[in-house]
Amino acid sequence: MSKNALVTGGNRGIGYEACRQLAQQGFKVWLGARNEEKGIKAANQLQEEGLDVHSIFLDVAQPDKIGQVRDEILQEDGKIDVLINNAGIFPDKKSSILDVDTVTFEDIQLVNYFGPYFLMTTFIPVMLENNYGRVVNIAAEIGVSHALDAPMAGAYKVSKYSLNALTRLFAGTTRRKDVKVNSVSPGWVKTDLGGEKAKRKPEEAMEGILWLAQLEEDGPNGKFFRDKEELDF
Ligand SMILES: NC(=O)c1ccc[n+]([C@@H]2O[C@H](COP(=O)([O-])OP(=O)(O)OC[C@H]3O[C@@H](n4cnc5c(N)ncnc54)[C@H](OP(=O)(O)O)[C@@H]3O)[C@@H](O)[C@H]2O)c1
Repeated sequence: MSKNALVTGGNRGIGYEACRQLAQQGFKVWLGARNEEKGIKAANQLQEEGLDVHSIFLDVAQPDKIGQVRDEILQEDGKIDVLINNAGIFPDKKSSILDVDTVTFEDIQLVNYFGPYFLMTTFIPVMLENNYGRVVNIAAEIGVSHALDAPMAGAYKVSKYSLNALTRLFAGTTRRKDVKVNSVSPGWVKTDLGGEKAKRKPEEAMEGILWLAQLEEDGPNGKFFRDKEELDF
């Protein structure tokens, strides 16, 4: 059986392109979407390209529903090989940390930080049991330690900084098994989130994601990359 992959926020942007390219590399892809209609439409488009992509309802901010996602995938495939924690929001792009209300701050942490936490606590035990798994957390270069001294986009930055912390913590749990957990920066990508002025197209952001999703057993664990270049957290 081919390897399978779950991509969160797979209905548009970087996640959609990751679904396409993983499927082109032979993966069976579960395209996670919080809006079922959008997920089905996106998966249909990729199926029309001849790709093995299936939509699945997945709101990363609803932890009580994530067990159902795991059960559905395990019932169909009996395993999960790759998890791409891609879903993300960036509503404070133009705001100082002092101007972000607490609800917005919480929403950002819920999707960008707790979401990957919920997914990893659900799926990494399955990977450990199968002695195989690759987790790719989509982080951001503005979410590294030295960038935290500037207050703009602070809620988003701290969510991605914390996501990198999770990468290291979960990687520490997988050392004795063939399970790898890494973070990747896609660069500045032209999507709804990245904006019109971004330099990269989603297709150009795939190198690191595809590489980390298919690492060999002696590959890195608990690290942060752009493409294949290691970055400091
Ligand atoms: N674009 C960049 O320049 C850039 C740079 C660094 C890092 N990143 C990271 O890359 C990832 C993808 O970003 P993008 O640029 O592709 O953004 P995007 O085009 O805005 O897409 C975001 C995706 O996340 C989904 N999403 C949001 N909240 C969700 C939730 N609660 N549950 C499930 N899905 C949810 C969205 O679904 P809906 O369609 O339902 O809203 C959408 O599919 C994000 O984590 C982002 O932080 C992007």
